[in-house]
Amino acid sequence: MDNWRNRVFCEDAVKGIARLPDGVADLIIADPPYNLGKDYGNDSDRMESAAYLEWTAAWVDAALKKLKPSGSLYIFLTWRYSPEVFVMLKQRMTMMNEIIWDRRVPSMGGSTRRYSSVHDTVGFFVNARDYYFDIDAVRVPYDAETKKARSRSIFVGAKWLEMGYNPKDVWSVSRLHREHRERADHPTQKPLEIIERMVKASCPPGGLVLDPFLGSGTTAVAARRCNRDFVGFELNPDYCKLIEQRLAALQPEADAAATVSTPCP
Ligand SMILES: C[S@@+](CC[C@H](N)C(=O)[O-])C[C@H]1O[C@@H](n2cnc3c(N)ncnc32)[C@H](O)[C@@H]1O
Repeated sequence: MDNWRNRVFCEDAVKGIARLPDGVADLIIADPPYNLGKDYGNDSDRMESAAYLEWTAAWVDAALKKLKPSGSLYIFLTWRYSPEVFVMLKQRMTMMNEIIWDRRVPSMGGSTRRYSSVHDTVGFFVNARDYYFDIDAVRVPYDAETKKARSRSIFVGAKWLEMGYNPKDVWSVSRLHREHRERADHPTQKPLEIIERMVKASCPPGGLVLDPFLGSGTTAVAARRCNRDFVGFELNPDYCKLIEQRLAALQPEADAAATVSTPCP
């Protein structure tokens, strides 16, 4: 297939991915249907458990062929299927982290016969020992209070205090509410803050991010804002239009394929 960089393909990911050249992606960010019965305008989130796991292995195998030896994969899941999917992935890659996305759900109502689930489970996997990972690009600045508490002379000028700390494996980032500026018309849109952290840490500048399930296009937007390329797939034609709109909004005046004007922080 020619001309596939920075393109959204409105089609089934397993079929579409097969047409990409092998070994081109630096990073795969996959946010598949969780099989919880959500309505994405298709039946993709309503499968029998065994069929869901079989389908998961099929798209994973298709996508991994496209990953470079130095490449990484992040996969969003919930506790319902993460045990089975992590076991399957550990047969193919090295697991580096289980990241907990704490969606900062307010403490109201919730389950009464078990504990309320307020997090998503994200697996971070790599192909090889020398995988690309830029920790400096994703350090978290210390807040003023912490810096002040470290103001004794032994800390003054300490490089680590200026550089910020390494992100931990619990990411506390609010889910996108209706009134949020970033919010698009998609039921499970992920915050840019999360996806941009993955892109900056695990894809070199100018590299390529593959997203089999673009949804509202957060990965595409994050890649362009961070000066990386993307290629992705989405079944629902309405979401494909939404993605094109989000990409076009990055550059109201020029064409979306040129250099992006809004860099990621
Ligand atoms: C969890 S959502 C992705 C949300 C996305 N990360 C975002 O931030 O907007 C999963 C998406 O995968 C799409 N999808 C489901 N099955 C698919 C398939 N076989 N090929 C391509 N897309 C598919 C659904 O329509 C849905 O929009």
